[in-house]
Amino acid sequence: MSPNSSAASPLDVGVIVPAAGRGERAGAGELKQFRTIAGIPMLLRAIRPFASHPRVCEIAVALPAECFESPPSWLAEVAGGRLHLVRGGLTRAESVLEGLRSLTPTIEVVLIHDAARPFVTSDVITAVIDRVTSGVSAVAAVPLGDTLKRAEAHGTRISETVPRRGLWRAQTPQGFPRTVLEQAYRAWLAKGNRLDATDDATLVEAAGFPVDLVPDRTTNLKVTTADDFLVAEALAAR
Ligand code: CTP
Ligand code: MG
Repeated sequence: MSPNSSAASPLDVGVIVPAAGRGERAGAGELKQFRTIAGIPMLLRAIRPFASHPRVCEIAVALPAECFESPPSWLAEVAGGRLHLVRGGLTRAESVLEGLRSLTPTIEVVLIHDAARPFVTSDVITAVIDRVTSGVSAVAAVPLGDTLKRAEAHGTRISETVPRRGLWRAQTPQGFPRTVLEQAYRAWLAKGNRLDATDDATLVEAAGFPVDLVPDRTTNLKVTTADDFLVAEALAAR
């Protein structure tokens, strides 16, 4: 190594995949995270880009408690021993916290990615890791393209149009220095808040840490409803 190439060795990156939800909005049947898209389970699609990413050292997957003892067999085939399972909690944030507690102490950068986003690409994973490595938390996000309407408190009558300028839709992966994420969770719980935030940046913002937006693709969609599975099938067929 030349005297000028004294860059610090890259920080160890761990990934938490919350996959312990009930998928209620996707309707009855198999849990949505285990349902296949063009023959491949959604959870497997969500994990693979991390499992094959050169910077990722460890992956913690939070499963519904009742699946923990006998997880799907296809989970064993990914990540060559770098994947472990944890029991998820009653909310997404509780599931993430279980994953966070399970990570090896040497992990310094934590990425969180929803099992319900099967089309994440390696370039956005790299962009989030790079931002966190520079010391700032980062959220994959897309600038809003739709016109936004707020409805009256009860019902469907429009009360106002919300200017979309400056509004982004937060996606995952979201990445954080581990110490920042741990502090954010501690502060959130110390204030007596319930762990009901729907993303992790919310807690980190509330603790006063800066969080950057990293431009992502709209194809990194979240599969929530039965219709989203139709879109996902079409994307997988490209
Ligand atoms: N999740 C989790 N633990 C929970 C709830 C959600 O790990 N107790 C995970 C889901 O499995 C999903 C991600 O968090 O990968 C985002 O949640 P969402 O899309 O809302 O999935 P579900 O909670 O399963 O769906 P629904 O809200 O329709 O029941
Ligand atoms: Mg949910």
